[in-house]
Amino acid sequence: MKVLGIIGSPRKGGNTDILVSEVLKGAVSKGAQQEKIYLDDFQMFPCKTCGKCKTTGICIQPDDFNLILEKIKEASAIVLGSPVYCKTVTAQTKILIDKIDSSQIIVSSTSDGKTKFSRRIRTNKKGVIICIGDLSGLNTVKQSAGVMRCLFRDLSIEVIDEILANKLSEKGDALKNKPILQQAFIAGTKLR
Ligand SMILES: Cc1cc2nc3c(=O)[nH]c(=O)nc-3n(C[C@H](O)[C@H](O)[C@H](O)COP(=O)(O)O)c2cc1C
Repeated sequence: MKVLGIIGSPRKGGNTDILVSEVLKGAVSKGAQQEKIYLDDFQMFPCKTCGKCKTTGICIQPDDFNLILEKIKEASAIVLGSPVYCKTVTAQTKILIDKIDSSQIIVSSTSDGKTKFSRRIRTNKKGVIICIGDLSGLNTVKQSAGVMRCLFRDLSIEVIDEILANKLSEKGDALKNKPILQQAFIAGTKLR
């Protein structure tokens, strides 16, 4: 069993990284294997709504999206973390979510003219969402986590826990927040 940690923050060793790593630690304590990726290490161009992925599930842009999608498909569980940037997730995280939504959801019409949404793949994976911010307040963090839930919904990933916190500012602040670290570790133990 492999758990994939996806870090949407460009700040390595920052608060998102600390919390995603803590979830992975919890999963490893139960015998899971782990892989951690930083979206900022990959090149991903934003979705252009060209529609080519609708028939293949594959993005035609010359970037790393298909590689990340393969990693997501191969993993048994996903941990997705992003800090709040300007009241939403980071650009790196949003590009991934948009491209999953475009390529993995098929929109069609029923005979009575209604719009039908179906998934290209059903994954039956478990997952944890991590979203943290500084001064905007917990409601903004919750709202941003809602954007991340789109990815879990599109891939039918069961959300085991959402780790939400604010008042995390400097790199390493998450290490001082023992309850949130504990919540993250426990969430990881439930990913098996
Ligand atoms: C460009 C930028 C925009 C930000 N916007 C917000 C915001 O709208 N609301 C908020 O609460 N925090 C905001 N923050 C603060 C980060 O969410 C916070 O510092 C977080 O701990 C960073 O996580 P990291 O250490 O994983 O990078 C912003 C930070 C940056 C760099």
